[in-house]
Amino acid sequence: MSFATLIVPCWLAFSFAWSWPDQPAKGSAEGLHGVVASAEGHASTVGIDILKRGGNSVDAAVAVALALAVTFPTAGNLGGGGFMLVRMADGRSETIDYREVAPAAATRNMYLDAKGDLVPDGSLLGHKAAAVPGTVAGLALALERFGTMKWAEVVEPARKLADEGFVVSHEFAKDLRESEVLAQFPESRRTFLNDGRFHEEGSRFRQPELAATLQRLADDGPREFYEGRTARLIVQDMEANGGLITLEDLKNYKPVTRDPLRGTYREYTIITMPPPSSGGIALVEMLNILEGYDLAKLGHNSPEACHLLIEAMRRAFADRAEFLGDPDFVEIPTQGLTSKAYAKRLAETIDRSRATPSNRIGHGNPAAYESPQTTHFSIVDTAGNAVANTYTLNTEYGCGVTVRGAGFLLNNEMDDFTTKPGALNAYGLIQGERNAVAPRKRPLSSMTPTVVLKDRKLFLVVGSPGGPMIINTVLQVIINVADHGMNIQQAIGAPRIHHQWQPDTIRYEPRGLAADVLDALRLKGHRLVEPSKAKPFGDAQGLIVDPTSGLRFGASDRRGRGQAIGY
Ligand code: DON
Repeated sequence: MSFATLIVPCWLAFSFAWSWPDQPAKGSAEGLHGVVASAEGHASTVGIDILKRGGNSVDAAVAVALALAVTFPTAGNLGGGGFMLVRMADGRSETIDYREVAPAAATRNMYLDAKGDLVPDGSLLGHKAAAVPGTVAGLALALERFGTMKWAEVVEPARKLADEGFVVSHEFAKDLRESEVLAQFPESRRTFLNDGRFHEEGSRFRQPELAATLQRLADDGPREFYEGRTARLIVQDMEANGGLITLEDLKNYKPVTRDPLRGTYREYTIITMPPPSSGGIALVEMLNILEGYDLAKLGHNSPEACHLLIEAMRRAFADRAEFLGDPDFVEIPTQGLTSKAYAKRLAETIDRSRATPSNRIGHGNPAAYESPQTTHFSIVDTAGNAVANTYTLNTEYGCGVTVRGAGFLLNNEMDDFTTKPGALNAYGLIQGERNAVAPRKRPLSSMTPTVVLKDRKLFLVVGSPGGPMIINTVLQVIINVADHGMNIQQAIGAPRIHHQWQPDTIRYEPRGLAADVLDALRLKGHRLVEPSKAKPFGDAQGLIVDPTSGLRFGASDRRGRGQAIGY
């Protein structure tokens, strides 16, 4: 598309050029019956096969999550945790919180040295960075509550992928080869880097230890992970390397079912993740603020619309830092933060012509932050049951440790706690007192699996990785559909912006905002940063159910390498 031929403002031309499906989007799909959109093709295929065999969305979700643990080791996992939002066709909705918890021996200052300084990488690398994994228990609970298939049946596709292997793609080989984290731990180096010889593109990647672990899980059930040989392998590894996780910690791990957080945006109902995610509260808070403005009229990524989005983000992230943590440990003013009245008060503090400096809303220090990996998938089945699932090891390959003899990586979710008041975590987030480390506590998360209803019917399912960018990604996908009339592929593909209160900068994607938009935002007093191409703004996976035809449209973010499949 030539910009010169378009007689529309430059910013509009650009956003259309980006989001218009003028290149075949490997990630889009449609189907009358079901759609699976995930960050990895083998896993999407596993999910669609389960649906075709008559399984429902939750059966498929459990199988997809387990398959991603085999085919997408950057983020797919057995050794991490996450959140699943289930919305059944009969109207029931529930979230399964299978977030990791701090080991019982964890202490508030465990990542500080004798002088009170943060130990470099203490909460990010090695055994001590790992929290007690929740994935296996969470998936099993989801299956028990909403699934129709047997545990062993949904484990089998993943076991087979681990046992028989899959062909290494160019990107998979490159990702592994470039991982500095994996190279530091002998078992990870052996498993994922072929002891330094690497797994070449076109070769078959088999994971016998992981296959054996999955076989034990299939044979003995999910508790095997927490009480059986797998548990013992985790604890042996911990004991040999200064980690804190004990057999007692594993035995005590419990996923929690929580009522979803609900909000409304114009004619839509938002169903999303409550604490210990900050995502749902921040999302609803921002949507409430933005509801007071005619974003459609302002236009997608126009300076005025960007300004309002940024001001909403700034305020919601300031509240995140102050108020949020594990609801089982701290009081959270959820109702207040998500009320329309509160949003109205916040909106009154927005100056339409000037940026509000973040230090007038709160305080903190600017810093760089990365965008490593987590992964989301969205599924709908024939009946209209929907699953939005986001789970993670936190940063790419988690703490880098592969459990000896068990073939899977462990998370570094401890870094999502406040490791030192005022210090920044891996995402440059300032964390508050309510998110301090404590035994058996869940670290605050940004993961935001979300379902949107229209006329009380399932309409949209979405989520993404990206640390704090997750929340703003989900926000912008919803606004792109609700206000700017985009289809799901366009809504996910459109360039995104990000502000998280501190640092007080707008981050935008390479070529994501036109020069005149940047100028207009600078004139309003905003500071702008264009991050490198290597750090994408999330990897959203979403779907829409067309309200009239019932057709399901799935979309996998072109920023990633995922695949949406429909049937
Ligand atoms: O729970 C959280 O908010 C983070 N551990 C998520 C990490 C993440 O999204 C990394 N992905 N890019």
